[in-house]
Amino acid sequence: MKIAIVAAEMTPHAKAGGLADVIGALPAALTQRGAEVAVVIPGYRSALEKASCQRLPGELSVALGSRRESFRVRRGSGPGGVALYLIEHEGFFNRAGLYGEGGRDYADNLQRYLFFGRAAAVALAKHVHPDVIHSHDWHAAVLPIVIRADPALRETFARTASLFTIHNLAFQGIFDRGDYPLLNLDWSYFSIDCLEFYGRMNLMKGAVTLADAASTVSPTYAREVTSDPELGFGLEGVLRARGDRFMGILNGADYNEWNPAGDDYLAVHYGPRDADAGKLSCKEDLRSAVDIPDRDGRPLVGMVTRMTPQKGFDLLAQGIEELMSLDMQLVILGSGDPAVEEIFKQAQSRSGGKLRVILGFDNALAHKIQAGSDMFLMPSRFEPCGLTQMYALKYGTAPVVRATGGLADTVSEFDPRSGKGNGFVFHQYRHEDLLATLARAIAVYRQPSAWRRLRENGFAADFSWTRAADRYLEVFARLYAERVG
Ligand code: ADP
Ligand code: GLC
Repeated sequence: MKIAIVAAEMTPHAKAGGLADVIGALPAALTQRGAEVAVVIPGYRSALEKASCQRLPGELSVALGSRRESFRVRRGSGPGGVALYLIEHEGFFNRAGLYGEGGRDYADNLQRYLFFGRAAAVALAKHVHPDVIHSHDWHAAVLPIVIRADPALRETFARTASLFTIHNLAFQGIFDRGDYPLLNLDWSYFSIDCLEFYGRMNLMKGAVTLADAASTVSPTYAREVTSDPELGFGLEGVLRARGDRFMGILNGADYNEWNPAGDDYLAVHYGPRDADAGKLSCKEDLRSAVDIPDRDGRPLVGMVTRMTPQKGFDLLAQGIEELMSLDMQLVILGSGDPAVEEIFKQAQSRSGGKLRVILGFDNALAHKIQAGSDMFLMPSRFEPCGLTQMYALKYGTAPVVRATGGLADTVSEFDPRSGKGNGFVFHQYRHEDLLATLARAIAVYRQPSAWRRLRENGFAADFSWTRAADRYLEVFARLYAERVG
């Protein structure tokens, strides 16, 4: 089966968060299971610099409202040798950032990603002829829309099945009604059962309704977003209406990239057998890298995250003094909301060496934190899947999480009596529950044999991509059979 994966990010070429990690790993896993895979991403400056790729002959163009936009296609190879196609457009993608710069989104993101989706469709029709198009998040939402709603593309893709995967319902691609003509679609699609959403246009909604099926990245998140309006962000009814055509498939973790036994960002390599010594060296290395000296053998808690409301920063900020009075030290690597960044910078200066906040995006440090921390904290308000808790388990670092979305599917409370469980979990989004859970984790940390057991359980967890790739292939086969059958 020939599968085309279309998305706005891909590790290592262009990364803002977990979407990149998924697109960097899923195609290779599908290839290993015998599929033929092509990936299409925007030709951002960073991607063109990192990918070795060749410009294909010929210039193509697509309509964007009343304009026509010309573009070139570059072909190279991505992780695992998959075919990688980059859509090259000087004005839209030769920029310093992916989605914006200096904490602000680019003002023309709608135009950029409408163009990207249409250009991807044209490039796929010319170079790939896929059996299945698997597109991700609102940046690639226009693809499942136009291949069914645009008469000029409908025929071309009549035998191509389409799956649309949602990585985060907080970003739906909602724009003004006045922008609708940029899509070059009949107004009949601006309807309550397609793209219209409270008088505005919603690209994710259009994709969910027009794709042959839709999915999200964990079973629990799939349940939550169809039942809890706070998490469905207004799309809960639309998702529910798709019945068994909306499903949750848990992401995998890319153990080629995230594995302490072969991680070149670490001071030493280690695995389950030499975890005590390995983690100790990595902890010393981390302490010196971020300048947080040891204080009486307290456990070191790490966080690596976008600083957004999703990730639970308001919970951390509430009574940060109480948090800092716990018997631990906390290292946060994060970037995002400048107001949140400021709160934590200030807290750091009052923490007496117990809190260290590093602002920015730093992949090498992200790896060092995974390895050098004792615990990995994710107090998320919601979490479609979350990858960093899976990485933490592989590094022998105990996740401390709120049971939401993929966190609920991957982390279970450790019970010192039975020896079962791989982390520490709280349920209500409440500051006191976060504190109590950290206190429980610290108490177990003080019992070396229990802690070792907990860590072994973490090492034993296997979230490799094989299982998810099999599941996707099943879905692709079913959708393709329906389409051609
Ligand atoms: P999300 O996609 O919601 O940000 P995930 O847990 O799925 O959350 O994935 C986050 C990915 O981004 C991980 O690979 C993590 O290491 C990385 N990451 C997040 N913030 C940073 C940062 N400030 N510096 C480096 N890597 C980061
Ligand atoms: C989104 C979600 C995160 C998920 C990632 C990859 O960014 O916030 O929970 O792990 O996508 O699917």
